[in-house]
Amino acid sequence: MDNWITVTHSEKETLGVGRMLASRLAKGDVVALMGELGAGKTVMVKGICAGLGVKKGVRSPSFVLMARYEGRVPIYHIDLYRLNSTQDILGLGFHEFINGSGISLIEWAEKAKGLLPPNRWEVELKYVPGEEKARDIHIQHIVKLRLPGPCGHTIHGRLRSSSERLAPDR
Ligand SMILES: Nc1ncnc2c1ncn2[C@@H]1O[C@H](COP(=O)(O)OP(=O)(O)O)[C@@H](O)[C@H]1O
Ligand SMILES: [Mg+2]
Repeated sequence: MDNWITVTHSEKETLGVGRMLASRLAKGDVVALMGELGAGKTVMVKGICAGLGVKKGVRSPSFVLMARYEGRVPIYHIDLYRLNSTQDILGLGFHEFINGSGISLIEWAEKAKGLLPPNRWEVELKYVPGEEKARDIHIQHIVKLRLPGPCGHTIHGRLRSSSERLAPDR
């Protein structure tokens, strides 16, 4: 599991963090962006999109709710700010985006917590009191291994055999 915490001091630095995150993303990934109004979610999305090869046109989709860009993979930029019910969110075609082959970047993802896939990136941006241009950024890659079931047995088996190799005396 990846887990990074950083503080940026300008929009430019947050764009840079977005570009760095983009280099870690793969087809089908979902990035859940959380934080108050003005915290920098859209700035982060711009950085991610730049890193994914989108040349221009990234802006807050608050009014259109969803925008699609072409980078090295299709990118869905979703903003849940104006949506309040699960029904509205599902009505966006939410599941189609997040289960599709593109990369989904979701602003105000805290509104859809129960609808997000278990495997996802979470990006939380927070204001730093007394520092107008500073933002606390916490990025986590959550990967859940599901142990029960045939795939789980395989993963578990591999883990066990590799730990046996690492600790042959036990
Ligand atoms: N360190 C920083 N990181 C990102 N944005 C910053 C930073 N410092 C100041 N800002 C400003 O904060 C605002 C963030 O806006 P935006 O990304 O649209 O927020 P959100 O999408 O979270 O509502 C922009 O006006 C940006 O210039
Ligand atoms: Mg925004």
